Amino acid sequence: MAAFYLAVLLIALTPCGAVDDNVRFDCYPEDGATEQLCLDRGCAWEETQNPKAPKCFYWDPYGYRVEGNVQDTVLGSRATLRRLNTPARYANSADVDPVTLDYEMHTAKRLRLKFYDSNTQRFEVRDKMPHIPEATGKAPSPEYTVNITPPSPTTPFSLSVTRTATGTVLWDTSVGGFTFSDQFLQISTKLPSTYVYGFGEHERNNYRHNMDWRTWGMFTRDEAPGPPSDGVNKNLYGMHPFYLCVEDDGKAHGVLLLNSNAMEVVLQPTPAMTFRTIGGVLDFYMFLGDGPEDVVRQYTEFVGRPFMPPYWGLGFQLCKWGYGNLSVVRDVVKEMQDYGIPHDVQYGDIDYMERQMDFTIDPVNYQGLPEFVDQIRRDGMRYVIILDPAITTNETEPYAPYTNGTALDVWIKDGDDNSQPLIGKVWPYYPDVTVDPTQEWDYKVEHYNAYSVFPDYFHADIDQWWGNFIKDFYKTLKFDGLWIDMNEPTNFVHGSVKSCSNNKYDNPPYMPKILGPNIYSKTLCMNSVHGGTEHYNTHSLYGWSQAEPTQRALREVTGKRGIVFGRSTFPSAGHFEGHWLGDNTAKWDHLHKSIIGMLDFGLFGMPYVGADICGFWDDSTPELCHRWMQLGAFYPFSRNHNWEQGAPQHPTHWDGAIADAARDALQTRYTLLPYLYTLFYQAHTQGSTVVRSLMHEFIEDKLTWSIDKQFLWGAALLISPVLDQGAMDVNAYFPKGRWYNYYSVNSDHQGREVADAGQGRSLSLPCDMDCIPVHIRGGHVIPTQGHANTTVFSRRNTLGLIVALDEAGEASGSLFWDDGEDIDTIGSNSYRMITFRVSAMTLDITVESNGYTPDPELQYETIQVFGSPAMPSDVTVNGQNVASDNIVRKTADKVWHLEGLSLSMGENHKITWTIPDDTSGAEVSRARPLALVIAAIAVVLATVNGHFLS
Ligand code: NOJ
Repeated sequence: MAAFYLAVLLIALTPCGAVDDNVRFDCYPEDGATEQLCLDRGCAWEETQNPKAPKCFYWDPYGYRVEGNVQDTVLGSRATLRRLNTPARYANSADVDPVTLDYEMHTAKRLRLKFYDSNTQRFEVRDKMPHIPEATGKAPSPEYTVNITPPSPTTPFSLSVTRTATGTVLWDTSVGGFTFSDQFLQISTKLPSTYVYGFGEHERNNYRHNMDWRTWGMFTRDEAPGPPSDGVNKNLYGMHPFYLCVEDDGKAHGVLLLNSNAMEVVLQPTPAMTFRTIGGVLDFYMFLGDGPEDVVRQYTEFVGRPFMPPYWGLGFQLCKWGYGNLSVVRDVVKEMQDYGIPHDVQYGDIDYMERQMDFTIDPVNYQGLPEFVDQIRRDGMRYVIILDPAITTNETEPYAPYTNGTALDVWIKDGDDNSQPLIGKVWPYYPDVTVDPTQEWDYKVEHYNAYSVFPDYFHADIDQWWGNFIKDFYKTLKFDGLWIDMNEPTNFVHGSVKSCSNNKYDNPPYMPKILGPNIYSKTLCMNSVHGGTEHYNTHSLYGWSQAEPTQRALREVTGKRGIVFGRSTFPSAGHFEGHWLGDNTAKWDHLHKSIIGMLDFGLFGMPYVGADICGFWDDSTPELCHRWMQLGAFYPFSRNHNWEQGAPQHPTHWDGAIADAARDALQTRYTLLPYLYTLFYQAHTQGSTVVRSLMHEFIEDKLTWSIDKQFLWGAALLISPVLDQGAMDVNAYFPKGRWYNYYSVNSDHQGREVADAGQGRSLSLPCDMDCIPVHIRGGHVIPTQGHANTTVFSRRNTLGLIVALDEAGEASGSLFWDDGEDIDTIGSNSYRMITFRVSAMTLDITVESNGYTPDPELQYETIQVFGSPAMPSDVTVNGQNVASDNIVRKTADKVWHLEGLSLSMGENHKITWTIPDDTSGAEVSRARPLALVIAAIAVVLATVNGHFLS
């Protein structure tokens, strides 16, 4: 054994001579490993105390070696990897030889590592994503160093990636096991820390990954969130092979494996990670961030910045599958209006359709729907409809979506006879069938459900088919958004109505840890022809591929931005659509998990996200729905929705207390919408997160790296919801800085500073059923607006500013404003951008860009200052003294307000104030040098510190 291996051996052996679990990388992840099978594979076998650690692991040189010198290329370097003399992974398919490795230096912070077969074209996701930028040349001063093992006849190939400035090794693949066979591609790497986040879509107990031997399968599937099933962590609707790793010094990097084949990732405590995919190429992109937020910015710069939702898309949304008929919907909308609960968007789930068929309306139960939609739109509301991809084929009356799609030949093809479409089953029953309701699901699917075909959204004529039907349907029903569901794609029979043939795609030699029992379960046969290749490759791109043509059609027909949101997503989906977290359950742990899901999708560049408020499956309870409405008021995508047989759970269904709590929380949301909208503008233009993990803002505080029961909106608002049944308090962590109460329900406490948050502190906050704790971070200015029942009306209300001062008496913020729904207001410069800066007791409101004028013009009416060292003795607005009566002083809370202002939003303004100098009795003038002012504030602060209550 070479010296290298001897060294590894010495380090790896435990005191009793066994190989340490941490250096074991599983060589036999399939079930049924035996010593002989392991040895046949060229690996080592040894028992271990830990049942999670592998007994069969890579040990001797395995895989590939580098042949010849590494070559320079336009973008970086190229190495040729040749197989070592070890057994092929699968006897019937030789491992690829040679494998080419391209190392590309795209930018100073982004690199690509691509392993591929230069002799045979394999499927590459990259080819399906023309909007992703190409690199044009080598980055001149990369912040990373890549080392590849030198050419050798025996030393296995490995590579490392180092952050040059800190010397942190981000990747080190010398742990062995690199494999590249036709249907099994694997690479393992050591990681610089155990702080790993991301990968999806899954239900998890914590945002931060548990590194104790966990395997996460990824392959899109119609699967409701829930605990592991048969020991497999459920792979849910979307696929996101992207992770974030925070290095011990707080720097962070992200890694995307741009591959859509079924795969799994194994996390182990070393810390290390193994990727195993069963097709395509190993195409990794690494993003070296300064911190986590910077990683997301870089990631979204690459995959596409999140789309800009319309303003109304930030309003509250209400849905239910199975309202039953239009009169129930009418009543719900009216109750919400009567109760004064903000409600912008009403939905039609599949029951608005005639027998769940796209582009139809149930003529009996939903008669009058178009007129109803026109009416609620006149009242300032919006209407969103669901569309499913599968198209029924057995109608006795002409069904144009089927006949026209057949004429255009847009269906996914049967892999065994590609002159025919693949046939599955989804919703509708055969026409005119008599259904025995007492029968089980499987019986019904077999006997009553009609045959369906599945559109290929990669088809060149897809706009002509899908787009045109959307546009035609708009002539009948004036929808504002499209909800694309069931697009994993789901199929109620496994594979096809005739199941799947025995072929290498439907029976791959290796099945990653995804739910089964086979790869085509609940979906299409993998050998069907989709996107010019086998569905095996494009399966997980299905929902993603539907998003862009759907968005394009929506925008063309409405002429507005609208919302598209989908169930099945893939990297870059956030550029086209939002996402809801699927069919959750009305149970308490799903409140916490919804926060984890939002944080995950924030990482994935999909900030327009939320969970079904009050839970989809099972009946909600009053207390659960009460708390969920409060939390859900802070989901970027805030929608209450549940399933067909579920009891009603809209806010007014419950007793007055729940309706009141929902109204209060939503009124707070609506008051804060100018801030939320500005965050979306920042996400759209700079790629920042909207719902943000605390660690993104407080990376120097390691405690924040594991917090996932609280979250931030942007940098400035901290939300600490009640997540437990019966709880009347919340344990909240306040990182270093000043924090102020934001209470819409108890204005007595508004602006009161959290005591002693100073260096970072956990506090138990009393929180009765009326409360959802929200705190504003010192140093920020939050724009607000009076709430109303819909955003059409709230957008006309007067504005306010909350100035939350930091330790230096400073604060800043911004406000993005446009008409809220035109398609490219940013590109056409039809927006207004305003900045707010507070320093030395002066607030400057500056209109930086003025391409949009609201009609009528908006006014600032109130300005609230939190954390003032003392009450101001006088205040001027644009040089005029403010009458003392117009200054509301709340001395005990160090809060003061200006009310009754009417300052035009379209103009610059300057507000100044003076604070009496406690020590001399003289006034500290803003004209004094800044250092003196800060010193004075510091003295005052020191005297008051500790006297504030939370
Ligand atoms: C499944 C979706 O996840 C759910 O939200 C929807 O209500 C049903 N399909 C019916 O359309």
